Amino acid sequence: MKKLTSHPITKKAEGLKGAVRVPGDKSVSHRALMLGATAPGVTRITGLLESEDVLRTARALMALGIQIVPPASKDGIWQVTSMNEGSVAAPRSALYLGNSGTAARLMMGLIAGYPISASFLGDPALSKRPMGRVIKPLAQMGAKFEMSTADRLPLRVTGSSALRPIHYELPTASAQVKSAILLAALRAKGGTEIIEPIPTRDHTERLLRHMGATVLSEPGPNGSSVVTIIGFPDMIGKDIVVPSDPSSASFLAVAALITPGSEIVIPHVGINPLRIGLFQTLIEMGGDITFENHREASSEPVADIRVRYSAMKGVSVPKERVVSMMDEFPILSIAAAFAEGDTHMSNLADLRLRETDRLSNIAQGLAVTGVRCTTSEDGLTIHGTGKPPAGGGTVEVNKDHRIAMSFLIMGLASKSPVAIDDGDFINLSFPGFTTLLNGLGADIRSEEAQITSKAG
Ligand code: S3P
Repeated sequence: MKKLTSHPITKKAEGLKGAVRVPGDKSVSHRALMLGATAPGVTRITGLLESEDVLRTARALMALGIQIVPPASKDGIWQVTSMNEGSVAAPRSALYLGNSGTAARLMMGLIAGYPISASFLGDPALSKRPMGRVIKPLAQMGAKFEMSTADRLPLRVTGSSALRPIHYELPTASAQVKSAILLAALRAKGGTEIIEPIPTRDHTERLLRHMGATVLSEPGPNGSSVVTIIGFPDMIGKDIVVPSDPSSASFLAVAALITPGSEIVIPHVGINPLRIGLFQTLIEMGGDITFENHREASSEPVADIRVRYSAMKGVSVPKERVVSMMDEFPILSIAAAFAEGDTHMSNLADLRLRETDRLSNIAQGLAVTGVRCTTSEDGLTIHGTGKPPAGGGTVEVNKDHRIAMSFLIMGLASKSPVAIDDGDFINLSFPGFTTLLNGLGADIRSEEAQITSKAG
């Protein structure tokens, strides 16, 4: 039997209407599970993202002897019990982290502080991604790494119960690397200091504080940020409410902005200032977006986001904003394709090292759908005309979930429908994407489903 999502195609929509909640934040979900595993006691997580990436983390932690109990019902509570006062056991077999860079890199940091060995495996895409950025600081702290190809999975990490605290300047801003060091630093005697050239998402720091640890974040010279943590803090398992993922919400927001007649509300979205660069950019482009009912969930700011169809114009994305929207360039490119004038994006070298080379992937998709763009080694300029792009054709997404969702969104308002070659990977970060958009008035379905409905 063929899967319904295998070759999805999006047709023009009349206008999206309604209020719909997107799944939980991926970054916060990974961290909630991992910190729940390291804090003595029981952590109860509401709103966990139940996507393939996050479930990789859950399974890896279970392989380390952490008790994780999934909820009985869909919106229920995940319970993480740290056995043996925050200790972990050596896994009996290799940890398979699938496609997830966050799971792989943060788990290395977690394991670094224990006298155990674990092998890490990933899918072909993850096995191509650089791991040296986490290996270097963790090795300085005393963890040992063995691998056959430098800097890549598969690898074997051996942790230590005598980790050294470090003072580490990140060569490139990365929340994954910062978080891996913070997880290791929990078990290093003394103070670890991390200098980020630009502040990155601080979910680990916020959750650590929520669970009782002291973590300081202070501004450093030239826009940098200094994060300090003292090892062996008094932590305790806590209740954690995961907000909806602003990265997932961004697909819906752009869908409403480009589809005439749309007005939608996306409730309970995490609006951490280090995550909302895309929304700031869309507002500068003329997007009618408002944040309503500001509140907090487990130390994270949350709001309901209202988005209405808007005519947009091209802008230049400030370089220093890039890290706060690193995952959002595929969907920004779709907004830019509908805007009038050029949208300039620069400082994007790291975008080539994601699940795929996203810069090339975006450019190829735009070429197929009739949008003019210019790329450089670390930049992209999209030449919008203010009119809907042609669409049509099938975009090869190379199994990249964010590229897949972005081009399906384009088809809502392009002249001709947009198809993609493979929609299965969407489940990595946004389970229920198609159903949820169709509930707002979109028409996204698999080619097989279209044939069936025409016939019947
Ligand atoms: C993430 C950090 C970012 C982001 C990724 C999730 C995290 O990666 O792109 O999707 O949860 O820490 P980098 O740290 O590599 O920039």
